[in-house]
Amino acid sequence: MPTATDSRRRRLLTGLAPALAAVWLGARATRAGALDAALRLSVTGSLTRIDQVSRALRAGEARPTDWQDAVEAAAAAIDLDELFRAIDFERLRATAGYAEVGVATAPARLPDVFGDGRRPAYYAKVFAVGKGRAVIPHGHAGMVSGHLVLDGGFRLRQYDRVGDEPGRMLIRPTVDRVETAGGCSTISDDRDNVHWLVAESDAHTLDFLVTGVAPETPGGYAVQNIDPAGAEDRGDGVLAAPHLDVETALAKYG
Ligand SMILES: [Fe+2]
Repeated sequence: MPTATDSRRRRLLTGLAPALAAVWLGARATRAGALDAALRLSVTGSLTRIDQVSRALRAGEARPTDWQDAVEAAAAAIDLDELFRAIDFERLRATAGYAEVGVATAPARLPDVFGDGRRPAYYAKVFAVGKGRAVIPHGHAGMVSGHLVLDGGFRLRQYDRVGDEPGRMLIRPTVDRVETAGGCSTISDDRDNVHWLVAESDAHTLDFLVTGVAPETPGGYAVQNIDPAGAEDRGDGVLAAPHLDVETALAKYG
């Protein structure tokens, strides 16, 4: 199974601006214990970078995959201890609790990186997922999102959405790895559209979201739950996964 490191290396070293690659390499060095402080981004630096690429995406000046690359690099470079202090994670973890099935969410109060109260170009939320519970498998339309693991760990599976049929989504597996604190994954219409995270221990993520990316999507974005375990194999790596309503999906996967 490819590791998170392998996957991220492939993505970030193919077609990524040198400055972002340097950020990513800094993050890797941090994790390896050979910290080059100049390459690690402060929380303000990372959030500013995520805001910049979110504005560019909204303006049509960046592609969804550019957003994914930039957010994965910026999130991976965040100093988690600094982030925990900035969002008062200990209090948030104590008050958010966990859902009996699926996830509990809490608003994330991020620091005012601009110093003037201006809202960033993305939304942020914290997800709390108890051991054995899941972010159930679902695809998206008209939005991008990034998921930084704050604590605990997940089995993360992702799929490209390669087509749609009445009642089914055609998907191709792309990611199957364990994500632990500091790991980050992203989705868009163009890459890794479907995600499914099963918590291997009590876990939290900080999510960054931009909706309204595709103007034709009613309401700015859409989410569709699916049933990968009940999928038909269509050959050539393509699976036809039935759509699921929320109740059925939570009962089976939550
Ligand atoms: Fe999602």
